Amino acid sequence: MSEVLGIRGYDFIEFYVGSAKMVAYWYAKAMGLEITGYAGPETGIRDRVSYYLTKNNVKFVITSPVQPSCYEVYGFINRHGDGVKRWAIEVDDVEKAFTYATQNGAVLVERPNRLEDHHGYVEQAAIRLYDDTELVYINRDNFNHIFKPGFCEPRQEINLECEDTGIIGVDHIVGNVRENEMNLWANYFNKTMNFETFVDFKAGDIGTKYSALLSKVVRSADFKIKNPINEPFEGLKKSQIEEYIEQYYGSGVQHIAIATEDIIKSIKALRKNGIEFLNIPSTYYDMLRNRDDLNIEENIDELEEQHILCDKEEEGYLLQLFTKPIGDRPTFFFEFIQRKDGAKGFGKGNFQSLFESIELDQKLRGNLDKSPEELMPPC
Ligand code: FE2
Repeated sequence: MSEVLGIRGYDFIEFYVGSAKMVAYWYAKAMGLEITGYAGPETGIRDRVSYYLTKNNVKFVITSPVQPSCYEVYGFINRHGDGVKRWAIEVDDVEKAFTYATQNGAVLVERPNRLEDHHGYVEQAAIRLYDDTELVYINRDNFNHIFKPGFCEPRQEINLECEDTGIIGVDHIVGNVRENEMNLWANYFNKTMNFETFVDFKAGDIGTKYSALLSKVVRSADFKIKNPINEPFEGLKKSQIEEYIEQYYGSGVQHIAIATEDIIKSIKALRKNGIEFLNIPSTYYDMLRNRDDLNIEENIDELEEQHILCDKEEEGYLLQLFTKPIGDRPTFFFEFIQRKDGAKGFGKGNFQSLFESIELDQKLRGNLDKSPEELMPPC
């Protein structure tokens, strides 16, 4: 397998939300991003506003409708709530990547086109992903201003002082899909983007006595893009992937993993900024202390204090922690991750702990038990 499509890495991720101004403020104050661009009626875009936020290689666009005629955005948030509409891959040649994708079966959303102004031009194209999600190919080599034509400097000075969260880039983006959809989407990525499946969690690998999931991870040749896809697996009670599908009203992006070079420092800062994380029981850290195969630099007491998960990989080890859902529906959340000593995978032990921890919150929300209709035998 070799990289033939000129993939450079993740570019922007665009969220559709109910109130972009307030959500952008949260991303700045809590996540430590900087509001570096704005587009809206003042810049010639009549029906929506977008805030562009950046921190190192993390690039988010937060968009809301401002006119009733903005059906595309209203339709999305009406059905899904706040969520990820599209994520972008930076490529050397948009036309080439798009042609490869569509010739291999990708569903076309936007043909390669140029967005132009006096600062230059941006080239982009898009294909369909799960339900209402899109994958964008973008190249901004010939544009020397903020994000894309139509964006300007932020319009107002806001005091956005917060703790430095030390986030450096996007590590992976995870999709939740319905039963029997995982293989369809894994094959879609592999065929249309020349990806390869490199992790395959089967029935019995991840789950509790009540519920379970299946998961595959596809990746680009050089590991720059890693995309896990989860689907629910039949159990006594409702899988958390089913809860997502029900509350999101479809399949979509479940979480984005953000890389940091010092996870303990990052999590401390994020907590100070008000972000809520999943709780990990102290028995998990007793188990870590008893593991002979785990040779790590970090102090386990400090990991326990911050509820950070740790798992050994074939090469190196992983440190991870997951936020609670960031919006009102139990759908989208963030992960923070530090890969040590060349770790490339997705720790099975951490995945299991995440699953157990989410299931506790799912129970509190009253979404773990199946409805009477679901428990009735089919007639
Ligand atoms: Fe993850």
